[in-house]
Amino acid sequence: MVPATIPSAANLAWAAPPRSLSDAGTHAFVDRSFPRRAPMKRPRAPLPRTADGAPHVPVLLAEVIEALALPGAAIAVDGTFGAGGYTRAMLAAEPNLRVIAIDRDPGAIAGGGDLVAASKGRLSLVEGRFGKLDDLLAAQDVDAVDAVVLDIGVSSMQIDQPERGFSFRNDGPLDMRMARSGRSAADIVNDTDEADLADIIFHYGEERRSRAVARAIVEARKAGRIESTAALAGIVAGVVWADPASGIHPATRTFQGLRIAVNDELGELVQALHAAERILKPGGRLVVVTFHSLEDRIVKQFLTIRSGRAAQGSRHLPSQSAGPDASFTLATKGAVLPSEAETRANPRARSAKLRAAVRNATAAPPPLAAIEALAALPERPPRGRGGRR
Ligand SMILES: C[S@@+](CC[C@H](N)C(=O)[O-])C[C@H]1O[C@@H](n2cnc3c(N)ncnc32)[C@H](O)[C@@H]1O
Repeated sequence: MVPATIPSAANLAWAAPPRSLSDAGTHAFVDRSFPRRAPMKRPRAPLPRTADGAPHVPVLLAEVIEALALPGAAIAVDGTFGAGGYTRAMLAAEPNLRVIAIDRDPGAIAGGGDLVAASKGRLSLVEGRFGKLDDLLAAQDVDAVDAVVLDIGVSSMQIDQPERGFSFRNDGPLDMRMARSGRSAADIVNDTDEADLADIIFHYGEERRSRAVARAIVEARKAGRIESTAALAGIVAGVVWADPASGIHPATRTFQGLRIAVNDELGELVQALHAAERILKPGGRLVVVTFHSLEDRIVKQFLTIRSGRAAQGSRHLPSQSAGPDASFTLATKGAVLPSEAETRANPRARSAKLRAAVRNATAAPPPLAAIEALAALPERPPRGRGGRR
C-alpha cells in the first residue's frame, strides 16, 4: 500500500515541457537536431523540478516506497541521497523511521542541510561511497538496518551543471567525478593507452566503434591534451555515425563508458549489494533502481543467485540450491518498470528498472566472484589469438 503522503508519479511532472536530455549515458540522450561533428549550443529550458522545488525528479518513487514496505520504528538507508527525493518520501511515509542517507557527492550532502534540520533528528547525512555501506554505518554505531534503497547513476544536478563535465551538450571541463576527487575523465582520456581506452569504451559504454574512437582520441592527443566535454564529443562524432532521426548523440556511449570508469560505478554496485546483504536484518528489504543493462544485469544476477534461483549448470553463474541457504527472497517478479505516464512526464525515467528482495535469516555468504567479474573489464586475449581485438 502506498501511503497517501507520497506524491504520485503524475504529481511529479514539471511544468515546462520535457527538454531533450543532455545525458552522459545513464539515461538515453534524445535530441533530434544534433550536428554531425560539432556540439551545438541550444537554449536551456528550466530544470525539471519536483513539486517542492528539488532539481531532480525521483524515479519510480511510489513503487520504491511500496517495495520498501517500511516497518514503523525502523532504520532505513538511502545509499544515493541525491536531491533527497527518496529520503523525503521515506520520512513522510513513516513518522517513526530513522533514515541514514549516503552520497559520495559533497554537493548533494551540502544540499540536504534543510532536510536534516526539518527531520528533527530522524535524518543523518553521510558523505561516502555506498560500496562501503557497512563501514559507513559502523561509524554511526549502526550494525543492522531494516531497509536499503539504491537509485543508481547520476542526478539531474550533476548532469545539468556543465562544470561537472558529465554532459556533452554544454561545454565544460572533462571531469565526471561524482566525489570531486580522484582520477577525472580527462586523466583517463589523456593518459590511458589506446587498447585500454577501447576496452573502457567497449565494455562500459557498449560502443561498437570503440577501437575507432580510441584511435581518434590518441590521434587528437598529439595536438595537445583533451580537456573539455565539447572537444571529446567532437572527436567522437568524427568517427561514430548516428542517425539524427534516432535522437542518439554519437558520443552518448563513449561518455557513459568513461563515467562508469571514472566512478567505478559497477564495482561500487557490486560492493553495495554484498554490503547490504551483510547489514540487513532478517525481513529487511533491499530495493535497487537501475538505468542501464550493465547495472541491471548485476542486480538481477546477484538476486537470482542469492535467492537460490540460479539456473543449475549455467555457464556464467555458480549453481546454488534454493531453500534454507538463500539469503534473499525476491519481492518483485522480474523488474518493475515506470508507467507510461511517468515516462511521458519524466523522460529520464524511461530506462529505469526496480528490483527488490527481502533478507532471510541466513548468515551472509562470502562475496560472489561471478558478480564481481561482471564489474571488471575482461582480460584482453594475447595479440594474434583472435577475439574482439
Ligand atoms: C540518481 S541520483 C539519486 C537521486 C535520489 N534518489 C533523489 O530522489 O533525489 C544518484 C546519486 O547517487 C550518488 N552516487 C552515485 N554513486 C554513488 C556511490 N558509489 N556512493 C554514494 N553515492 C553515489 C550520486 O552522487 C547521486 O547524487
